[in-house]
Formats: sequence, structure tokens, C-alpha cells
Amino acid sequence: MHYFIGIDSSTTATKALLMDENGRVLSVASSSYGYETPQPLWSEQRPELWWTGTVASIQQLLAETAVPPHAIQAIGLTGQMHGLVLLDKNGDVLRPALLWNDQRTAAECDEMRTIIGPQQLIDITGNDALTGFTAPKILWVKNNEPEIYAKIAHILLPKDYVRYKLTGEFATDKAGAAGTQLFDVRQRDWSAEVVGKLGIDPAWLPKTFEGTAVTGHLTPAAAKATGLPAGVPVVAGGGDQAANAVGTGAVVDGVVALSLGTSGVVFASSDVPVVEPDGRLHAFCHAVPGKWHLMGVMLSAAGSLRWYRDALAPGVSFDDLLAPAAAVPAGSAGLLFLPYLTGERTPHPDPLARGGFIGLTVRHSQPHLTRAVLEGVAFGLRDSLGLMRGAGLANITQIRAAGGGLRSSLWRQILADVLQAEIVTVNSTEGAAYGAAVLALVGAGVFSSVAAACAELVQVTGRTEPGGDTAVYHQLYPLYQQLYPALKPTFAALVG
Ligand code: XUL
Repeated sequence: MHYFIGIDSSTTATKALLMDENGRVLSVASSSYGYETPQPLWSEQRPELWWTGTVASIQQLLAETAVPPHAIQAIGLTGQMHGLVLLDKNGDVLRPALLWNDQRTAAECDEMRTIIGPQQLIDITGNDALTGFTAPKILWVKNNEPEIYAKIAHILLPKDYVRYKLTGEFATDKAGAAGTQLFDVRQRDWSAEVVGKLGIDPAWLPKTFEGTAVTGHLTPAAAKATGLPAGVPVVAGGGDQAANAVGTGAVVDGVVALSLGTSGVVFASSDVPVVEPDGRLHAFCHAVPGKWHLMGVMLSAAGSLRWYRDALAPGVSFDDLLAPAAAVPAGSAGLLFLPYLTGERTPHPDPLARGGFIGLTVRHSQPHLTRAVLEGVAFGLRDSLGLMRGAGLANITQIRAAGGGLRSSLWRQILADVLQAEIVTVNSTEGAAYGAAVLALVGAGVFSSVAAACAELVQVTGRTEPGGDTAVYHQLYPLYQQLYPALKPTFAALVG
């Protein structure tokens, strides 16, 4: 039997997953850490944490299972996207990484639009400038820390720092590279125009690879640290969202992945590059070779429900909180919830957007508020799906959903009704780490393609069809859509 490892360096932990050649998960090990917010809007993490987390998790996998290290055939990498890792000419870390959720770069986003041209930027990279992306972070370092900027020799994404420590190679995957906003999304390579106009030295950028391609092999030093044999191939893998989509089987046209964790992500695969004309959806390369995807990111999805429970029903279990909401009629008796508790990305890229209950009366009780939260999050996700349909992905046939929020049958039904699509759950529940291991399996030649691997390994375990409340939600949705434009000036004034 052959075995494969998927490694996911997320914002809160590095996780390693051990899979056999039949896609069976034998063990998952995880090493947790935190991140720093040294100033308002800042979010940073030391790259060493991802490496020590990787070493500890691989060692734990090997200790917990009887799998001999020489039976490991390949490793796939995934992790948090958009983070900026800066190394000097010796490969040493120059400063803590600026993470995907860092919001300090509003001025640099404007600078990018001015230098490249706002429409040209969207046309080439597929995206409007966003504070979270990597490119404006590079400009921020140039503008604010020139002494660090002068020493840059290599720019990497978080999981590619792990790759560097494993293989000694400076390399990245096309999905992750597209998330830097230095990428020509159609050509699937660095954009000479964007890189040149921003004054970035192309020699700083890693070589890019398709998700299943081998990017290097384990060095003797990495072998010693992890307990694996030297020479194990490491495939490119993909950014966490693309790898998660592989893990749920959203790898063919028309199948959408919905991830309902703290944030909510709607991810649609596409055989051709599709760009939303105003750049409101993220348009990136997929981890599946030669494919693309569109993505909408809602910042507080299940995070909204968690905030609501912690603030208004502390100590109550989610099951107990949600049960009475099932008896409340669709529409929560005229109550709407706006889920922008941590600002928003899609469809309103606005760090100052805020949440709210709108339409409260004395007739409303806690179950109404609970149901309104579930419905408000579903409406927010419908915004992303609507933008996808508008951008030309008309053929959305199935939504493959994963994440803590999907455990609730009530929420699944509300999502099917609001999104007007079948919601299915699948057997693979380990998300991005599972997807990274599948990419390693394909890279090692066990399957002929990612689609073939997913067809074999990822099975549908449950289906929720749109039901009787679909029409009610269809009528309410335009009212929800009116709220953000009406309240935007109020939000800005409240924050300012
Ligand atoms: C995707 C994104 C997040 C991060 C953190 O655009 O910002 O998914 O990758 O997980």
C-alpha cells in the first residue's frame, strides 16, 4: 500500500493528513498557534510557526500510525492564501508575514489602481485591488519599511515557505499565485506588466506550477526533521479554497463548493477563465490543471451565528438555539439580519460595513432572531451566487457544502430555498488538507486526473432540495439587497 500526506498551514493551525492510495484517511494531526495584531488593521504571523507546526504534525502522524515512512509516496501542500512572506538572499525571514486578513493597505490598493489603471488591473489579474491580497502588501513594505524592502530576495506565500523548508525550492502553485494579484489569470503566469509597473523585481517571484506537478523533493535536512525519507516528491497543491474545492469534488463546470465556516465561501469551477466585469468576485486559477474558478467570500457566515450565540445566548448549545427557530415562518415575521459583523468582501468590499437586525418589533422573540441570522447569511451567499450567474456561469447544477454550519438541517434547508439549488453534503470532511493529499495522489499517477480521483473518492452523503419557502425568500431578497446601499453612509459615520 502507498500513502500520501496533505499539509494545510492555516491561520490557526498547521494540519497534516495521512491518506492511503484508496483515499482513506488514516490519521490527522494538528499543531495550533495564534497570530498577532500589533496595530489596528494589522494581522501578522511568524513563518517559523508553519514550519514547526509541519514538523510536529508529520511526526505525530508517523507516531500514531503503523505506516512505515518509506511508504509515503508524495506530499501535497495547501494553506492560507494571500500572505506575504519576505526572505533575504540567505533565505532568512525578513519580518513577520502580513496575513490574508490584514487590512492596512487601503492606500496601496488605490496606488495599484492608479499605476495599472482600474479596468486594466481587473482585465489582467481578474480582480479589483483588495487590501487582503499580496501585491498591495509588497507596496506597503516599500512605502513604510524601505530598509526591509531593500533586502528582499524572495517573495513567498505561507504554504510555499513550508515548501521551501521541505525542498529548498522557491516555487508556488497557480491558484495561490493568482491570489497575489501579480498574475495574468488567463495566461496562468506572472504578469510582466503588473510586476513591472509596480517596480517588483521578477527574480523575487517563485516559479509557478500546476496543482499536481512535482515542485521538488524532500531535502536530507527536512527528512531528518520530519522522520520521512529524503527524496519524497512535494507537489504544488493549491491555496486553501482551491484545495478545499478539490476535497469536496467541486472540480468540474457547474458544481459549486460552499464552505460555511467562520467565513462563507462560494466557489465555482470553470473550464474557461471567467472574470466578473467589476471585479467583485475573485477570479483565480484552480488547483485543477488548466481550470479556473470564481469565488465569493463572506467574512462572517457561521461566524455570525457564533457571535449571536455568544452575545445573546451564552452557554446555549447550537442545537438548543436552532431547534425553536424551525417553527418560525420563513422570513422571521418581517425581520432581516445583515451579516457584515467584520466588514465584508463579496459583494461589498468594505471593511467599514457593519451588521444589524432590521425590522425588529415587540412581536419578535429569540427564535425569530435566530432564524433571521440563518436567513441573512444565506442571502449574503446568494449575492455571490448571483454575481457568478451574471458573469456567465449560468449552469450551476449542484452546491457541495461543507463546514460546521452545515450540520444544521434547518440551515441546509434555508440555504437550498434561498440559493434555489440542491445542497449536497459529501463524505470527505477534512477540507483543504484532504484536497492537498488528493493532488499528491494524482501527481504520483495513482489517478489519471483530479476529476477522476474526485469521482472515485468523493461520495454524496445527503441531499436537500429547494422546498416550499423558496418563493417567500425570492420576494424578500430584493429587500435584503437594498439594505447595504441605504446604510453604507451610516456605517462609515459610525466607524469614523
Ligand atoms: C481566500 C482567503 C482565505 C484565506 C484564509 O481568498 O482569503 O480563504 O486563504 O484561509
